[in-house]
Amino acid sequence: MKTRVLMVCLGNICRSPLAEGILKSKVNSEEIYVDSAGTGSWHVGQLPDSRSIEIAKVHGLDLTNQRGRQFTQKDFLDFDFIFVMDNSNKADVLQLAQNESEVKKVQLILDELFPYENVDVPDPYYGGEQGFESVYQMLDKACNEIVKRL
Ligand code: 4NP
Repeated sequence: MKTRVLMVCLGNICRSPLAEGILKSKVNSEEIYVDSAGTGSWHVGQLPDSRSIEIAKVHGLDLTNQRGRQFTQKDFLDFDFIFVMDNSNKADVLQLAQNESEVKKVQLILDELFPYENVDVPDPYYGGEQGFESVYQMLDKACNEIVKRL
């Protein structure tokens, strides 16, 4: 059975598509399945934000086969690890958890770099290009740590 990893943010167009693309590039797809979702529904069916697509491209990754989807309760059954980008995503996801084993699957992605410090990946949606590069760098480092434990 493949290990299944889900990346979650609010819109599923900026941060979690990048996290999905980065982690996919670091693992064997025969062994590990990676997906992403948003807690909100505004961008269901849409491509990632053009700025995420662009920054991924700069780093050799293609996000254009991704489409937005909303996180559902079923994702707790389908995934082994659920990495959320910020504390607000974490609260939204945990609200749908039905037992302790589901709660335990949910982790802030930057806990990989700063354990117990509750650090958010900042939402770059309303900012400029630079925000996307800085998000890319954080997610790249966090995914290096995730790979070590999968
Ligand atoms: P993301 O960024 O959660 O990193 O995908 C956002 C994208 C869109 C919105 C909010 C955050 N929005 O409100 O539409």
